[in-house]
Amino acid sequence: MSKVSLSKRLIVFAIAALLAVAPSALLAQAQEVEPIVIGVAVAQTSNVALLGQEQVIGAQIAEEFFNARGGVNGRPIRLAFADTGGDEAGAINAFQTLINRENVVGILGPTLSQQAFAADPIADQAGVPVIAPSNTARGIPQIGRFIFRVSAPVAIVAPNAVKQALKQNPDIKRVAVFYAQNDAFSVSETGTFQQTVKDLELELLDVQTFQTTDTDFTTQITNVLPLDPQLVIISGLAADGGNLVKQLRELGYEGAIVGGNGLNTANIFPVCQELCDGILIAQAYSYQYDSEVNNAFREAYKAKQEKEPPQFSGQAFAGIQVFVEALTNLDNRKPLKDLDLATLRAELREEIMKGKFDTPLGPISFEETKKDDGSPAGGELVQEQFYVAQIQMDPGGATGRFVFVD
Ligand code: ALA
Repeated sequence: MSKVSLSKRLIVFAIAALLAVAPSALLAQAQEVEPIVIGVAVAQTSNVALLGQEQVIGAQIAEEFFNARGGVNGRPIRLAFADTGGDEAGAINAFQTLINRENVVGILGPTLSQQAFAADPIADQAGVPVIAPSNTARGIPQIGRFIFRVSAPVAIVAPNAVKQALKQNPDIKRVAVFYAQNDAFSVSETGTFQQTVKDLELELLDVQTFQTTDTDFTTQITNVLPLDPQLVIISGLAADGGNLVKQLRELGYEGAIVGGNGLNTANIFPVCQELCDGILIAQAYSYQYDSEVNNAFREAYKAKQEKEPPQFSGQAFAGIQVFVEALTNLDNRKPLKDLDLATLRAELREEIMKGKFDTPLGPISFEETKKDDGSPAGGELVQEQFYVAQIQMDPGGATGRFVFVD
């Protein structure tokens, strides 16, 4: 038999074999590549979108990044986005859509702790794992067994910024505190800030309150300025916090300013412009953190946005990463295709809880928490590294950056 006729025969055989198995093979392949749907419920509209937009970008980069690496053992993921807006009703609505219509395996969201306290119980009751990308108020994982967060709580992060203000100016003694009283995270964070002021034996001159919807802070500022504070600490969200900073400076305040986690976005730059300069904000993420995954994330972000990635994007990426890696671990243990959705969601909760994840935030894991009545609750973040950044605005105030100072 000549070589030519052998190869011809082989080709004929191969075509025949392909035709015989093609329909079922293609079907199986189609079933195999059916994406796994992960929900993302963050604020894409309202003032809270100043934070939520950064989360969308971080999650999208994670979707591309992990799909390029084969998704979950060869099966791609698909993110289903649902806009929560800025309030509780919007978050509840988005969660219900993702759980009941999109049949997601889990949810990344919502943006605000205030929204989480309203929407997370719905996911918990439905047995759907939730990973909070930015909820930093006390008590988030204690909402229920299915609730996790990749956003370190205020008690761990916030004091670092006050300590940094004292490092920069050891003469600081007199402190004034402002907080948004209609926002659960701001209430929680100001508790930590006020405790830090006491612990550091500083003088708490005054505590002023406002609403996240406020735009004029003249009354609160004129109450405080005669007391001659050297440090002002603000717990609010991006739009109100940015306006408060702007008006403090316009009314003559020259001392140090510490902003809380709600101000931790370059999206405040258009609000306070060059008057944003100098604000100190504690960070749970640094683009300078040198690891394979963070370097890859940083490059992907810079390629899209032409600037360094912020904390909210880094945390959103980490949240999607936790889902992808926990799903992969689960698939290795019990193939996902053999599990009905309720079982998959329940098993995914266990995999998240026991996993270790090397994320752009550094190595993270979760520890079991309990509700006040002692019953089991969700996973609190265990994270090692924290930082402080200072805002540096360019002349004219159109552009600026977060500079890491600690
Ligand atoms: N850290 C803020 C919150 O928990 C965004 O609401």
